[in-house]
Amino acid sequence: MRVLSGIQPSGALHLGNFFGMMQKMIAYQEQEELFCFIANYHAQTSLSEGKVLARGTLEAAASFLALGMDPAKSVFWVQSDLPEVQELTWLLSNFTPMGLLERCHSYKDKVTQGIKPNHGLFAYPVLMAADILLFQSDRVPVGKDQKQHLEVARDIAIKFNNEYGEVFVIPEAEIDEDVATVPGLDGRKMSKSYGNTIDLFQEDKALRKQVMRIVTDPTPVEEAKNPDTCNLFQIYSLFLDGAGREALRQRYLTPGLRYGDVKQELFETIREFFAPYRQRREALLENPDHLREILANGAAKARRVAEKTLRKVRKKTGLIY
Ligand code: ADP
Ligand code: TRP
Repeated sequence: MRVLSGIQPSGALHLGNFFGMMQKMIAYQEQEELFCFIANYHAQTSLSEGKVLARGTLEAAASFLALGMDPAKSVFWVQSDLPEVQELTWLLSNFTPMGLLERCHSYKDKVTQGIKPNHGLFAYPVLMAADILLFQSDRVPVGKDQKQHLEVARDIAIKFNNEYGEVFVIPEAEIDEDVATVPGLDGRKMSKSYGNTIDLFQEDKALRKQVMRIVTDPTPVEEAKNPDTCNLFQIYSLFLDGAGREALRQRYLTPGLRYGDVKQELFETIREFFAPYRQRREALLENPDHLREILANGAAKARRVAEKTLRKVRKKTGLIY
């Protein structure tokens, strides 16, 4: 089975990205044919500073590799290294009814938030469909917020296949209900757009500061606390096994627990958990040419698949004459 997903390099990676997406993708490379890419074209819909995007792309790639993405076991590349995706986007545009895009929540939400809509933002789901269909992906693990975009990709693929025969594999979304949404510092979904993240790779001081900002309730120290409604408990639980979680739960239920102590422990836990990865990431970033070479090799592998699909599509649509 071919599994594909992408992540935008539009900001620092956080615990939500790690537990919600990256960890799962890294595990997939052991069992399935994994395609994973850095969606830098998509990031351009929210980021216009060239230098920031270029740096963010290298950092996202280094982070993924440091966390265990293995270019020998997977196909790992940067989206814009394959211009084929742009050509397919155009070809698919002709099978994308306006109404399909006009109904997209993600687009409407961004416009409601005050983002000035442009064509890139509007066409975002078509580019995403091209990412998926170009590689004949069977399965696409995504967060709940991307569910509708997957439906758009399927609709476009079905429409195209109806016209030209079985050209595209119809992809299935994989929305893992078990991977609970990781809460942010304020209890809402952890997201860079809410400014409530705990970032994976940062200096100890900054990390500690983020952890200390986790919002907790005002229950006095001498009273028992409720772990089930506690944000700090949920974030800490991500790093604990069943027994560890139970032990923490008991501490909550016993009067005397100080949230500040739990935060300090959580800070140390996160720091230790990511320390080896941080070192590997720094080593990768110290040699960007080597990193670029890894990515170029990944792009070459991806291109072999992309070219095959695109040749078929060009032929069917009359571009080969
Ligand atoms: P952000 O909300 O910070 O902009 P993205 O939308 O770029 O994050 O998310 C990239 C990937 O990480 C997606 O697959 C998404 O589902 C996952 N993800 C992001 N935040 C969370 C979260 N709080 N909990 C679980 N998964 C998340
Ligand atoms: N839009 C996705 C997100 O923000 C990223 C993405 C781009 C993607 N292309 C994709 C995810 C193709 C899955 C498949 O999370």
